Amino acid sequence: MTTHRLTVIGTGYLGATHAVCMAELGYDVLGMDVDVDKIKRLNAGEIPFFEPGLEPLLQKQLDSGRLRFTTSFEEVAEFGDVHFICVGTPQKIGEYAADMTFVDAAIDGIAPFLTHPCLVVGKSTVPVRTAERLAARLLETSPAGADVELAWNPEFLREGFAVRDTLEPDRLVFGVSPGGSAEQVLCDVYEPIIAKGTPVVVADLQTSELVKVAANAFLATKISFINAMAEVCEAVGADVTALSKALSYDDRIGGKFLGPGLGFGGGCLPKDIRAFMARAGELGVDQALSFLREIDAINIRRRVRMVDMAREQVGGTFTNRRIAVFGAAFKPNSDDIRDSPALDVADIIRRQGATVTVYDPEAMGNARRKFPELRFADTAFQAATGADLVLHLTEWQEFREMDPDALRAVVRVPHIVDGRNILDAEDWRAKGWTYRALGRP
Ligand code: UDX
Repeated sequence: MTTHRLTVIGTGYLGATHAVCMAELGYDVLGMDVDVDKIKRLNAGEIPFFEPGLEPLLQKQLDSGRLRFTTSFEEVAEFGDVHFICVGTPQKIGEYAADMTFVDAAIDGIAPFLTHPCLVVGKSTVPVRTAERLAARLLETSPAGADVELAWNPEFLREGFAVRDTLEPDRLVFGVSPGGSAEQVLCDVYEPIIAKGTPVVVADLQTSELVKVAANAFLATKISFINAMAEVCEAVGADVTALSKALSYDDRIGGKFLGPGLGFGGGCLPKDIRAFMARAGELGVDQALSFLREIDAINIRRRVRMVDMAREQVGGTFTNRRIAVFGAAFKPNSDDIRDSPALDVADIIRRQGATVTVYDPEAMGNARRKFPELRFADTAFQAATGADLVLHLTEWQEFREMDPDALRAVVRVPHIVDGRNILDAEDWRAKGWTYRALGRP
């Protein structure tokens, strides 16, 4: 344990979790965001999004006095000697490339106040060679000049498991420049985690940037691979869930991220593969990643297939049909609706004439704000009342445990399409339901 004072710039899913977890490791931490409301809520002990287990830890660390939040770059620069950049890099509107506005603003915001030696550590997912550009900018614009070092330390946390993934990561990746002290500083900072045997990979800046996008590209590829198999299965009446299970026993393949269904969404996988393709184009190696275009296309096709299957189930037209949608978040245990397959499907069906009522255990607020034209119910049963079809699109535990008999009592027609291949088909069928799923007979 060292005496470093840490700051975390950007307090979204990544930054808020990182700040809380670093305080949990025993550091004095100052979190920073330009969003005044977010900072007020964090200082009051409230996490502005749903992440299991994070709020109690935030309250504990605020009480300990080790953690607080500010909106001032000046205060951040004054307080810390290691500054983590955790701002978002969303997809640019109308383009595949990543929008670097927030990263650039973070660097430009802190640089003028950096008057003493320090380490700036990028954690955001960025196009390869961004770090090099930011290092040059810091050298040029911060008063401490060459005493400000830049390192890259990509983050692999999953929403829903953010605390565990931060405190017990699979691996740590440190991207550093030769001759600096960044590797030593990062080893000091993460010492309690490294001491538990966590592997550390030290690489140059550009390799460390690539690790993150390569990891997400691989995960997206696994999901789209099994979903491509689902398309083939449907053509021949085979069962993709049995296929996936059989593949999973080969430990060279493994069963994780081989779950067939409606495919991937969220704030990372879709935009990261697109940004990676855009960057490869700029670097003149677009052919190397042209397969990602197909990965993206397979994923989008799942949503189209789900809409088609739903339409088939209700007699070929959505007009005058009531559809209940279970799930709005892009995955369970999250209230994140960024590029949510569930809401995408719900909204397409609404536009095709159906009355669509959505229920989600945590994402209702976000969903209502983004899709005011959809209907929302307070419970799954309320959403399903009078429905001609139930679509199970996000696999929350609540839906997995749902009693088919009780649900049957409220719907108009007992039809269900399981977009996540999670429900027990035999049980639902035995209880009088027409059960359908992508990639299964
Ligand atoms: C992902 C990466 O896993 C994480 O390492 C990175 O830091 C950020 O991006 P996250 O976006 O939180 O994390 O979600 P993840 O759990 O990876 O799921 C992504 C999407 O894939 C979800 O929409 C999920 O429903 C879908 N998925 C996942 C499948 O469709 N099938 C699977 O087998 C697994």
